Amino acid sequence: MLSVRLLPMVIVADYRFDGKLVRNVKLTCMIADYGLRIMRDIVIDVAGVERTFTLNGREVKALQNLDMQIERGSMVVLMGPSGSGKTTLLNLVGGLDQPTRGTVTVEGQRLDTLNGQALAALRRRIGFIFQSFALMPTASAYENVELALRLSGELPRKEWDGRIRRCIAAVGLTTWIDHRPYELSGGQQQRVAIARALAIRPRLILADEPTGDLDSKTGEQILGLLRSLVRHEAVTILMATHDPAAADFATDLYHLRDGTIAERVMQG
Ligand SMILES: Nc1ncnc2c1ncn2[C@@H]1O[C@H](COP(=O)(O)OP(=O)(O)O)[C@@H](O)[C@H]1O
Ligand SMILES: [Mg+2]
Repeated sequence: MLSVRLLPMVIVADYRFDGKLVRNVKLTCMIADYGLRIMRDIVIDVAGVERTFTLNGREVKALQNLDMQIERGSMVVLMGPSGSGKTTLLNLVGGLDQPTRGTVTVEGQRLDTLNGQALAALRRRIGFIFQSFALMPTASAYENVELALRLSGELPRKEWDGRIRRCIAAVGLTTWIDHRPYELSGGQQQRVAIARALAIRPRLILADEPTGDLDSKTGEQILGLLRSLVRHEAVTILMATHDPAAADFATDLYHLRDGTIAERVMQG
């Protein structure tokens, strides 16, 4: 299908003018989107999505007119005020919720065509870093990460220990490896959740405010870690955040407002 739309796009890049390097030049242009998908490895395709909630008899459009295509190996950051629809979008992409209108396709599979089993299998390959995804309260950091490996069932048992320790080290929690969630700060718990998501070596990571509870230095370390997965292992990340520092790590930045895309910024 060939559809032609005009989309506003902002490109931020470093340019050389008369031999002088000028950083962060912002160019705004309209691009024609011919809907061509040849040569592009699209991991997430959100097409004409609307999500309406009914609250006390009143309709709330959490998302509307939303189109987004995410290529493999990109780190896409969603920004926007509270209530702009970021979490709703992540839930749709993760198959935790269904759109009222439109379609969501992940790894070539249209989610509304999948049965419960196929959807569960797809979800097991996604690394979720959601604040609402609570840790097992009676299990240590080590055991929480181990549980993810047990559920995914993809790694041979004898490789678990090494993988768990590497993931815990990657988020800087080796000293706290035997601590339970209630013995850890909010930021440390969030890092366990990140280690747990990384343990299954997901090709796709969905993250909702992953650095929200972290101090700025730890937050930047986590963002750097996620960015290196994108750069070196072609992992794709879709992340909602309020953290202005996240913009520096993004390959693609979307500003949402009232449930739709207000601006898209591609970083050169
Ligand atoms: N389960 C729900 N029931 C009713 N309204 C909801 C529900 N989830 C989200 N909303 C509404 O949808 C809008 C978008 O919410 P959300 O996606 O959580 O925004 P954000 O993550 O950007 O803060 C808000 O107006 C919110 O109140
Ligand atoms: Mg949210």
